[in-house]
Amino acid sequence: MNLFDAIAHRRSVRSFLDKTVEREKIVSIFSAVRLAPSARNAQEWRFILVTDPELREKVATAGGQPFLKQCPVIVVACAETDKRIMRCGEPAYPIDVAIAIDHLTLAATAMGLGTCWIGSFDPEPVKEVLQIPNEVPVVELVALGYPADTERPVADKHRLPLTEILWENQWRKPFSV
Ligand SMILES: Cc1cc2nc3c(=O)[nH]c(=O)nc-3n(C[C@H](O)[C@H](O)[C@H](O)COP(=O)(O)O)c2cc1C
Repeated sequence: MNLFDAIAHRRSVRSFLDKTVEREKIVSIFSAVRLAPSARNAQEWRFILVTDPELREKVATAGGQPFLKQCPVIVVACAETDKRIMRCGEPAYPIDVAIAIDHLTLAATAMGLGTCWIGSFDPEPVKEVLQIPNEVPVVELVALGYPADTERPVADKHRLPLTEILWENQWRKPFSV
């Protein structure tokens, strides 16, 4: 699968087979993750893989989304960060962690695995269960496993047309080919 195929086929998977994700695949995925770019190459991302069934249940409960309970790996994406604000006024760490997660989801797709980003969760109980220090932000959870549902056609993706998101030389000035 080339990069454009992986981008087209990646989708949010919310139903997983009861099948272990091979550790070699996890190593391959995170070898792609660690190559992500980051502001000042700070690489502040840290990941905890939750594979233990009891812990998974607890993290899934904190996640508040029932499908997390049946996914074999919950990736808890954190940042060990000084929360630096870039000159543009935006914090670097959530952007850096998000890029790393995008590498994760695309690499997983290329290996036949499914993922789902989870931003709707309560970080405090997740921190407590996994003994994550208070000052460490938990940026996202990511469900990872073999999809149990069938893939939707790529054409079913609801996305804004290029004309609404891509302009040239001036705000809202159309880009034409
Ligand atoms: C930052 C972020 C947070 C998200 N949080 C959740 C979530 O809490 N629960 C969920 O089911 N999906 C979540 N999603 C998945 C989006 O709903 C999904 O990416 C979007 O609807 C597009 O669908 P697709 O991923 O299948 O292309 C999140 C996605 C992103 C990027």
